[in-house]
Amino acid sequence: MLDFNFHNPTKILFGKGKIAAIKQHIPGKSRVLVLYGGGSVKKNGTLNEVFAALDGYTLFEFGGIEPNPSFETLMKAVEMVHKESIDFLLAVGGGSVIDGTKFVAAAALFEADPWSIMEQGGAPIQRALPMGAVLTLPATGSEMNCGGVVTRKSIQAKLAFQSPHVFPVFSVLDPEKTYTLPLRQISNGVVDAFVHVVEQYLTYPVKAKVQDRFAEGLLLTLIEEGPKALDNPKDYDLRSNLMWTATLALNGLIGAGVPQDWGTHMIGHELTAMHGLDHAQTLAVVLPSLLTVCKENKQKKLVQYAERVWGLNQGGQDQRIEQAIDFTRQFFEKMQVKTRLSDYGIGKESIPALVAQLEAHKMVHLGERRDITPDVSQKILELSL
Ligand code: NZQ
Ligand code: ZN
Repeated sequence: MLDFNFHNPTKILFGKGKIAAIKQHIPGKSRVLVLYGGGSVKKNGTLNEVFAALDGYTLFEFGGIEPNPSFETLMKAVEMVHKESIDFLLAVGGGSVIDGTKFVAAAALFEADPWSIMEQGGAPIQRALPMGAVLTLPATGSEMNCGGVVTRKSIQAKLAFQSPHVFPVFSVLDPEKTYTLPLRQISNGVVDAFVHVVEQYLTYPVKAKVQDRFAEGLLLTLIEEGPKALDNPKDYDLRSNLMWTATLALNGLIGAGVPQDWGTHMIGHELTAMHGLDHAQTLAVVLPSLLTVCKENKQKKLVQYAERVWGLNQGGQDQRIEQAIDFTRQFFEKMQVKTRLSDYGIGKESIPALVAQLEAHKMVHLGERRDITPDVSQKILELSL
């Protein structure tokens, strides 16, 4: 196991009706800005529930944070924070709203060019406004981590940042708030969480037995429960397990002390920035090809994954690895997420520009061995056609 420091300060309020408890976690005299997306939280009553729970506070609201939140929109929220002397932020929505709120929390107290926060992956952040979250879409784990992804539309750049200053103080995880999710978002959430685990597990062994078993348990839960959620979206226990699995898939625990890949995500971000695919759709396309191209280096963990997650312990090693990668692709398809670039109308002619964007964003040594160079990324994309 590699050395690590682990600290996760986010309080989780899990369960039906827990929005009512947020008052206990926001200082009494706060001037609270509630941030949300395109309006799903208005339609499904979550926003009213939040306002009712914040009775007595000085409240402001900022709506319109897009899926794949844009720097351009978020800077308008920063202006509002300054104008209204906001001192607490509350994100109500999915990963895009929570990530966007993390960026606003940092940018509001940042003296230099706020885009440099993104260009330097969050490193310049020295302080941020306190924030909380009410999660309505289990997928990203943003509700319990210190990372986020922001897109600058004007230059088609979708970049990730992280800083210990932007952990939510608390997050409410009420499974009933996810009942209004369209099936496409239930599918996206399962696939995103699955690939988060894989990015921190399918690398090379470092005798991290606990992290391995924990990661395998999350993957098995997603495989067992994911497809059922498409048939029974209002099953509370089902949605509870998926919600908690997605949070634990990226709250730092399974990633502590182990090598991490993230090549699939970095290549995926360029597909979203350039072609507008949902985040999870990009992962479903890239992961099977990346595992195939990198199977020599990932061999030991791929064999363990084949056996412990897919029950493949017969036949030659290469055959088991190939079958495990194929079962992974079949699982994404079973979750109704297509796994070929051609399924999204993207052809070979799009690949050079995607590789050029990876180079422009310095994504030239990706993966746990930093060996996914632009020409390897090109090979991965060609295999994804
Ligand atoms: O905008 P509204 O109207 O709220 O509708 C949203 C949006 O259209 C809708 N939705 C959310 N909750 C709903 C609902 N509709 C009905 N009922 C509900 N309860 O779902 C759509 C997608 O929402 P979004 O927040 O964009 O999805 P997700 O949670 O998957 O977040 C994706 C973003 O997270 C980033 C991705 O890059 C992408 O920008 N990620 C963040 C990470 C992190 N912070 O650690 C890691 C991830 O790898 C990922 O990169
Ligand atoms: Zn993701």
